[in-house]
Amino acid sequence: MSLSPDAIVLASPNYINNVTAWMKALFDRMGDCVHCQRMEGKYGAAVSTAGGSGAVYVAEYLNKTLSLMGADVVGAASVNMSEGQDAVNQAIKESHNIGMALAEAIETGRVFPDQKAGHEEMMNRMRDLVSLRSDDWTCEYAYFRAKKWL
Ligand SMILES: Cc1cc2nc3c(=O)[nH]c(=O)nc-3n(C[C@H](O)[C@H](O)[C@H](O)COP(=O)(O)O)c2cc1C
Repeated sequence: MSLSPDAIVLASPNYINNVTAWMKALFDRMGDCVHCQRMEGKYGAAVSTAGGSGAVYVAEYLNKTLSLMGADVVGAASVNMSEGQDAVNQAIKESHNIGMALAEAIETGRVFPDQKAGHEEMMNRMRDLVSLRSDDWTCEYAYFRAKKWL
């Protein structure tokens, strides 16, 4: 995953009440992005579908993961296909609105005060961990030093 964009939208169908194995495999390779809060200053959003139920949960999980990496999340769009065409149409509208909200956030540098405390808590926790494990987390340690976070 490139880290150069201003915003990242994650999408996954519901596979047995969670994201797909491919999405999870990606997350499992992104420990350093959590440690280094690599999505800090970026915006995120999530999209999910489900055959019967659970689309909201999957989208929330995707956004929670983006948030754990430091991103400000602007929203989510999800639909359970079992709810019919009206629900699909509604989700398409939501997706459009989220795209607009992302563009607006990037353009104006929107801040999300309600997400600030969570980011600060993660940053403090990661700073402690990276400091404690500086001998084996050498890349993370170098990144924190370069950022003057340590
Ligand atoms: C391996 C697999 C697991 C799935 N697990 C669930 C599930 O737990 N709950 C659910 O509502 N839908 C489940 N689905 C359905 C998908 O979420 C659904 O196919 C996807 O959202 C796309 O919708 P569509 O098939 O109508 O295009 C599963 C599909 C597959 C292939």
